This record gives sequence, C-alpha cells and structure tokens, in this order.
Amino acid sequence: METISKDELASVKTVKMPRHVAIIMDGNGRWAKQKGKLRTFGHKAGVEAVRASVRFARTQHIESLTLFAFSSENWKRPQDEVSVLMELFKLVLTSEVKRLHKNGVRLRVIGDLSAFDAKLVSKIKDAEALTQHNTELQLNIAANYGGRWDIVMAAQGLAQQVVNGTMQVTDINEATFDQCTAFAHLPPLDLLIRTGGEQRISNFLLWQCAYAELYFTDTLWPDFNEDKFMEAVVDFSERQRRFGKISEQVI
Ligand code: FPP
Repeated sequence: METISKDELASVKTVKMPRHVAIIMDGNGRWAKQKGKLRTFGHKAGVEAVRASVRFARTQHIESLTLFAFSSENWKRPQDEVSVLMELFKLVLTSEVKRLHKNGVRLRVIGDLSAFDAKLVSKIKDAEALTQHNTELQLNIAANYGGRWDIVMAAQGLAQQVVNGTMQVTDINEATFDQCTAFAHLPPLDLLIRTGGEQRISNFLLWQCAYAELYFTDTLWPDFNEDKFMEAVVDFSERQRRFGKISEQVI
C-alpha cells in the first residue's frame, strides 16, 4: 500500500470529509505476535489507536465514527481471549467516558447486548445516558454486532408493524427498511476502512455498505494513527462517487 508523504498531504488543498466513517479494527493479534507477545497484548495496544481515531474524527469534524469492536462471530475465539476483551471494554468504558463527555462525544453501543454480562450492560447504559445530548461526534461501538443480525432485526421490526396493523406490506421499501436498522439515526455510511490487510467485510455493515467507499490498508490496528486516518480520508476525497450515475452527471 502506497503511503502519502507529509508534503503530499500538505499539497491536498481541500479534503472532502466523509460524514460517517466505519472501521474494522483488524490485526491486533498479528501485531502482538510479531513482538513475541500474547494476542491480548495487541488488543490492549489497540486502545491507543481507538483514542487516536476518535481524536481525529472529532478534530476533523467527522459527524459519526463506527468502530467494530466485537463481532457476533468473535465468541468463537478462545475463552481467555474473549474474557480479556470483555474486561478491556469495561476498563475502557470506565476510564474514557468522562473524557469523551467533556469533549462532546455521544457514545452508543450497537449490537445484541443480551449476551453481555449485567455489569458491562450497566456500564454501557450509564455511558449512553451521560453522553446522550452531546453533538460533537457520534461514536458508535459495534459490539456483538453482525450485519445479517441487523437485517434480520429490521425484517422482524417491519413484520411486527404489519402484524400490529400499523403498516401495510406494500409500505415496506428501502426507506422504511432503513429506518428499522440499528444505524437509522446516523448519517449514511461514506467510508469503510479495514486495517490488517484482509479485503472483506466480515458481516459488518452489510446494508449500510451499499454505496460506501471501501478502503483497505495493511497497517495493523495498533499502528493505525491520525496520519493513517488522514491518508484514508484523502483517498476517499479523491474518489468520484457516482451512485449509479455516469461521470458527467456528477461533476
Ligand atoms: C481484531 O483483531 C480486533 C478485535 C476483535 C478487537 C478490537 C478491540 C480493541 C481494539 C480494543 C478496545 C476497543 C474498544 C472500542 C474499547 P484480531 O484479533 O482479529 O487480529 P488478527 O487478525 O491479527 O488476529
């Protein structure tokens, strides 16, 4: 992957900022292994990259940042690793929420929370309540989230409304479906970044990726920082988004 030098970055006159960026934070395990450490060391180091990304999004006025912290498939990892991740989420929620609040960040955790222990759910609810009126940045942590789960939940929500008689089957369309997904209240997804070298979506934001730009980097998550985020945003900014139209129509 070609990297952008500081001079090149400085020469980019106007960077068109995405409104909503999502990141698949991949590569913690490999980063740790390269250093001869346990995989969980990589997850702990990944917290600093989370901080840097939130700082970048806030200072660059990105409206919404969604981070894929734990997929519905991650439960299949060794029990020790799952436990460390759960403890890390609790720790980060405890240590970071005050600072997020002070900086005007609204925190939401999106996913099926029923699988998490009561203490973690209570910390999540407290953090969401404390930050609910903040408007500087919408920070969404996808936890026990899966794109297919989101689609199934939306389908159930619509079916329930039809059963209740508040909606006709013919009222089901892309807009009403979209309104029933977990990200309905957020700006449309503009840019999906995946670190760690793999080029796949891994059941993340399937519905929301329809017109998102995809950006893959070999950088392992703990090495991701504000400069790397800027490189992704500059790359996004230089793309032409046609939404099905031809080039001449969108210039
Ligand atoms: C993927 O790397 C990373 C995760 C499953 C966990 C992400 C968690 C953090 C960055 C910690 C804190 C986050 C928050 C939001 C509090 P991997 O383990 O799949 O890496 P590998 O592909 O090298 O094995």
